[in-house]
Amino acid sequence: MSLLKSTLRQWLPAIGMLLLAACSTANPSARENAGSAPQSPGSTQFSEAKGCKNVGILLPESDSSARYEAYDRPLLEQEIKAAIPDVTIQYANANNSAATQQNQAEAALTKGACILVVDPNDSDQAAVIVQQAKNSGVPVIAYDRLIQDPDLAYYVSFNNEKVGELQGQYIADQLAAGTLGLNRGDNLVMINGAQTDNNALLFRKGALSKLQPLVDKGELNLVFDQYTPNWDNARAQSMMEGVLTKTSNNVQIAYAANDGLANTVIAALRAQNLNGKVLVTGQDATLTGIQNILSGDQGMTVYKPIAREAKATAQLVAALSRGENTESLVNGTTELQGGETIPSILETPIVVDQKNVADTVIKDGFLTKEQICQGLSVKASNICP
Ligand code: BGC
Repeated sequence: MSLLKSTLRQWLPAIGMLLLAACSTANPSARENAGSAPQSPGSTQFSEAKGCKNVGILLPESDSSARYEAYDRPLLEQEIKAAIPDVTIQYANANNSAATQQNQAEAALTKGACILVVDPNDSDQAAVIVQQAKNSGVPVIAYDRLIQDPDLAYYVSFNNEKVGELQGQYIADQLAAGTLGLNRGDNLVMINGAQTDNNALLFRKGALSKLQPLVDKGELNLVFDQYTPNWDNARAQSMMEGVLTKTSNNVQIAYAANDGLANTVIAALRAQNLNGKVLVTGQDATLTGIQNILSGDQGMTVYKPIAREAKATAQLVAALSRGENTESLVNGTTELQGGETIPSILETPIVVDQKNVADTVIKDGFLTKEQICQGLSVKASNICP
């Protein structure tokens, strides 16, 4: 008996491997399809979704942008609770660590999460989370940042390449108009987001689609173009200080991918008495970003109505929970690096500069006049008299 047992133990792994190999050669297309087909709520792959009342929300960080704790978290919680009244929500913020986020996902699954909404700290590494969830029959919705995994169920975000195009177009327009004395051949610095964030790649791609033609024609001189690990604001400041030293302060335009980076870029400029004289871009319409725009230190930001992103996500979560079809909610697809497509909901970003602060962020209640005007050192004529 014991001989039989030990022989079996010895041969079991080999038998398993043989069976696996037989399955994959017998039906290779079924294996491919399992990875790339758009997932439907009825799919057995996500057996836990129907009837789900325990939702995990995982956000990536809280120090490069105020958005996560100020908007994403409360809005997602509020919208999901409104859509599924007796839902339990498990929330965690990864504080800029992909490993922490993996642990948080595991913890949420252990505590019964049956749908995960994940804004990945790292768009590649979070594939582990998608696979773990899939093994438990749980769908993952990538929120704001894409996750590079064909088993991802859905992606909800803004058109992120468009965000970059808006930033790049703003620079091109100001150059053409000669704003701040901008001239042909001016020096441009690009302080991009984190290379591990798929959005940062899209922002840069979109911006360069507008700027590279100007660089090629000699209208702009691209003197610096780097990613900022973890979107670390302090790192962006030292990068900007380095460029200013290296060029003897010869910088006329600073593309900063978001308002957090822009704010420390402005600090580096201020130290050289150059704030308000160099064109700076941003994104997120944060309170600081809007105040920097009104004081003239920053040219523009990109307003992304997070309420819409959160609502769309909640609608998907609710449809999955009720076992309903999600086709009417989805408005497009997103291609992964491997060419597979993920059903997506993509919202539209909006440019904000001094001219339309009132008609956009204030009108929507994203920020109030009081918040913006409090502590603003300059008088911004039409908004803070
Ligand atoms: C988001 C931006 C945010 C940045 C840093 C990006 O993925 O889309 O809104 O500013 O991450 O957190």
